Amino acid sequence: MRVETLEILCSPLERAPLQLETETSAEGEIRRFLVNHEHGLKFPIRDGIPIFVEPHQITGINGRFRKIYDSWAPFYDLLSRVGLYILGVSERKLRKEFIASLEIKEGDRVLATSVGTGADLHLIPQTCKFYGLDLSDGMLRICRNKMRKVGVPVELFLGQAEHLPFKDGAFDVVYQMGGINFFSDQEKAIREMVRVAKNGSKIVIMDETEQVARTLENIPGINAWFRHQHRPIVPPTALVPEGMEQMESCELYDGQAWYLSFRKPA
Ligand SMILES: C[S@@+](CC[C@H](N)C(=O)[O-])C[C@H]1O[C@@H](n2cnc3c(N)ncnc32)[C@H](O)[C@@H]1O
Repeated sequence: MRVETLEILCSPLERAPLQLETETSAEGEIRRFLVNHEHGLKFPIRDGIPIFVEPHQITGINGRFRKIYDSWAPFYDLLSRVGLYILGVSERKLRKEFIASLEIKEGDRVLATSVGTGADLHLIPQTCKFYGLDLSDGMLRICRNKMRKVGVPVELFLGQAEHLPFKDGAFDVVYQMGGINFFSDQEKAIREMVRVAKNGSKIVIMDETEQVARTLENIPGINAWFRHQHRPIVPPTALVPEGMEQMESCELYDGQAWYLSFRKPA
């Protein structure tokens, strides 16, 4: 873990600063933790990924989706490509246009609040520092294997978008691509994106529309995401905190994706 990463981390609930500690087990195994002694907090780092949430701490519908994404992780890239193909959307084009819309500048610290398998890592400019959080250990493991092949420095974290383990104003760009339609608490997740963004930063969110959910809910395998959908799918413009600037909301790809962007005031 880079020193500058440690400087922007905090505990997700108390927002307490963390320090890195190492322990050696009786068998000689070296284990690393992020700790705050004052608050009695200890987060393990497993295979280089800090664990900010354990399965029993996950609340609401997030628990169900963690399990779905964990079990589908090895097939996710294929399934999403097939899903987009069925919808007549080029994944390459969609990801390229989305990443371009983030307006990443040289040296920027960029946060993906549900990085998944890192399907867009190869499109991230190599001059930025990239941070990816996700709720699914399975998805992060695939992402970790992929990140060795890209030039951009990447740090991964297991956590919930509703409780980000980062200090206020840590990032130049914050984005959420897919998944937010089914978050336990979309409003909290958007507030967290705003909190961890620097003043003047761009925040971008995109997900599929209701029309897509209706098409895909009949396709075996992919339908696991859409069955038991607990609320209508609408772009969460009403959940964006007051005072945000340059807000844009539109539908893309023949109404199959909604796109929302805004800027935190400078
Ligand atoms: C549709 S996938 C999108 C992954 C990736 N952003 C992409 O473009 O391929 C949704 C992702 O959101 C993650 N996720 C679901 N709920 C989450 C939450 N509350 N906090 C963080 N990640 C979450 C899932 O584990 C999954 O990796």
